[in-house]
Amino acid sequence: MQKRTLFALLAVLAAACSPAAGAARPTPDPASSAGRGAQLFSGTGRCASCHALTAGTIIVGPPLAGVASRAGTRVPGMPAEIYLEESILHPNDFLVPGFEMAQMDSTLAKSLTTTDVADLVAFMQTLQ
Ligand code: HEC
Repeated sequence: MQKRTLFALLAVLAAACSPAAGAARPTPDPASSAGRGAQLFSGTGRCASCHALTAGTIIVGPPLAGVASRAGTRVPGMPAEIYLEESILHPNDFLVPGFEMAQMDSTLAKSLTTTDVADLVAFMQTLQ
């Protein structure tokens, strides 16, 4: 059931997500880790101000559509989950080709709890 809701949501996201629609976007089951992550992602001044969820849309950073699928291929030997976590905690350790150092604020992580980071990773893992 929860998975079904998530898939329906992702279809809506894919169709309707644009930077302007960010605030109105529905989220996965808000009680789930991915649901909390989705809310954190769209929070004011957070991830969604730089990352679109639609392929091809660059705000400041790369769009995160499909990030779950490529996360495990970015750094040899580094599993997807760790890469996604590292992307938040140490954004400059690996730079996505075509993007510059220090654009993703490394102090951002300081405003997030360990649970917040885990929830954001859970959310990004739904972005197949
Ligand atoms: C000020 C703009 C900005 C904000 C805010 C921001 N990012 Fe980023 N992000 C970037 C840029 C630029 C890159 C590419 C350079 C790099 O790899 O550090 C990036 C890279 C990433 C990547 C790697 C994507 C890939 O394809 O490998 C992930 C994952 C990511 N960000 C997640 C997040 C999350 C989660 C948040 C919120 C907690 C966030 N970002 C907030 C600008 C931003």
